[in-house]
Amino acid sequence: MHDQSVGKAPEALIRYLKEQESKDLLRFITCGSVDDGKSTLIGRLLFDSKMIFEDQLASLEKDSRKMGTTGQDIDLALLLDGLEAEREQGITIDVAYRFFATDKRRFIVADTPGHEQYTRNMATGASTADAAIILVDARKGLLTQTRRHSYICSLLGVRHIILAVNKMDLVDYSQTVFDQIRADYEAFAKTIGYDHVSCLPLSALKGENVLHRTAALDWFNGPTLLAKLETIPVADADDTGPFRLPVQWVNRPNLDFRGFSGTIAAGRISVGDPVVVLPSAKSSRVSSIVTFDGTRESASIGEAITLTLEDEIDISRGDVICHSENRAGLSDQFEAKIVWMADEPLIPGRPYLLKSGARTVSMVVTRLKYSINVNSLEQAATKRLELNDIGVANISLDQQIAFDPYHDNHETGSFIIIDKMTNGTVGAGMIDFGLRRATNIHWQAVDVNKAARAAMKAQKPAVLWFTGLSGSGKSTIANLVEKRLHAAGRHTYMLDGDNIRHGLNKDLGFTEVDRVENIRRVAEVARLMADAGLIVLVSFISPFRSERKMARDLLPEDEFHEVFVDTPIALCEQRDPKGLYKKARMGEIKNFTGIDSPYEPPLASELTLETALSSAEECAGR
Ligand code: ADX
Repeated sequence: MHDQSVGKAPEALIRYLKEQESKDLLRFITCGSVDDGKSTLIGRLLFDSKMIFEDQLASLEKDSRKMGTTGQDIDLALLLDGLEAEREQGITIDVAYRFFATDKRRFIVADTPGHEQYTRNMATGASTADAAIILVDARKGLLTQTRRHSYICSLLGVRHIILAVNKMDLVDYSQTVFDQIRADYEAFAKTIGYDHVSCLPLSALKGENVLHRTAALDWFNGPTLLAKLETIPVADADDTGPFRLPVQWVNRPNLDFRGFSGTIAAGRISVGDPVVVLPSAKSSRVSSIVTFDGTRESASIGEAITLTLEDEIDISRGDVICHSENRAGLSDQFEAKIVWMADEPLIPGRPYLLKSGARTVSMVVTRLKYSINVNSLEQAATKRLELNDIGVANISLDQQIAFDPYHDNHETGSFIIIDKMTNGTVGAGMIDFGLRRATNIHWQAVDVNKAARAAMKAQKPAVLWFTGLSGSGKSTIANLVEKRLHAAGRHTYMLDGDNIRHGLNKDLGFTEVDRVENIRRVAEVARLMADAGLIVLVSFISPFRSERKMARDLLPEDEFHEVFVDTPIALCEQRDPKGLYKKARMGEIKNFTGIDSPYEPPLASELTLETALSSAEECAGR
């Protein structure tokens, strides 16, 4: 055990850190609900053993920087290796990593706050953990949360589970209570692929069976928690898998050097090895391998390297360099497991960003196959994924990416999902497999193209997208605009919500999920019509920014014009041309926009028309 005063003495610190390097490292997470005693437990582990604290390390680091003159670099990254990679993944959430060490090994514990929105933090911590401590309150036994966290651990490939039955003092150290919880948990654990779990009784508050055994639990003949943590086998980096280097950046200090840098995600590479770069599928051979310690003949999984190749080929950030004989898959459609982490539900058809390694692409869920009930592990049909839901879905990307199934490689097989509007992380995913279908459908090239069709009509194709509340005057204004364009000899077409909902979108109602699909379809139709050379007027409430952005992104920048028909709801309600507001107020229509379904006004539309201030004719003129 280490004296905390080590922090004030840089030489001692250096010695200390050197010592640590030779010990192996166990990463683990703690999972539990708010009152299970998680912080107490972590506090116990860190404090009782007088181990080194994270904030101390931070100040040590400062000290060591100040004393940069000694020339002895303290590489804190050695202690925290791997965490950087996570930060790079863009997962910016509430996970505190604490470092501590005993005489036997070093530990990094991901301390994930135990509040409601916790799955996200948990999943982040678990993605790199060797082990998970799942805490339960002896008085309560297994909860849904217990099962959910265990299941996420198994999805993410955490290999060792320790069930810590806490608060044994509050059940009189009853062996019967413990045995029952153990039996329940072991039965559940088997169904998610954990044949061996360690179950330990303890009291974090009293410090019983955390570091030291106590008489009260003398019936238990297993190890203390710390002893268990010290002996869990740590996986040796297995470099037998096929070589994968996700390119983090292209290193080009001068014209004579062009290297590709990143951390090896799998396998081993040697100078002279044949490689292929995905997605471009260009091949070459490794001409040199550079690391911080100079050039090397070979390198393997987990090492940060820069590769140079024999041939000048185009490689950019986000590409994956593979061994030629065993390359990663390449696809733009996948089946994946998704853990949803946002308050806003995941909705099929809604565009999100998918980030895998250093590559970010646009994605939609094309089919939500089912969600998984974490208690029974049953599959249930579902239209959306809510906060903390786990589901299986087909997803489709706007570009191909290199991937491996998560089962084969956690790094090239996992991704995070980012909300396009807020840029927040909203989900995590694990690829089951690529869908072959995607690679068999090719875009049919045609000779008569948009430009040719537009030229024949002597016009510039465009989409005028009118958005606003029901009764705001969208259709009235769009109709006037179309009349004027028509009179001027333009070829136009109007897509109106009410009309399209009689045909193409007859199957859709007014739930959020249906509105997303409604707009997705009409956006695609508008694109096709613009491609036909037409000037398209779209008049849909289109209440969500996200789908209006999707419509915008389907077209070149100068062809999409968003027109916000900005009419206060009070005025719409007063006009109530179809009598719908009245019905909605009386509760006869559900999910009515502006009443019990949201409208997100545009933040930057090309044009805003305030119908309260000007007539429809004036608006149309603008
Ligand atoms: S959108 O929200 O999915 O874009 P859309 O423009 O297709 O809506 O259809 C809106 C029209 O459907 C309204 O103008 C109104 O006539 C009718 N309508 C019927 N029920 C609702 C509802 N619950 N919310 C909004 N509009 C409704």
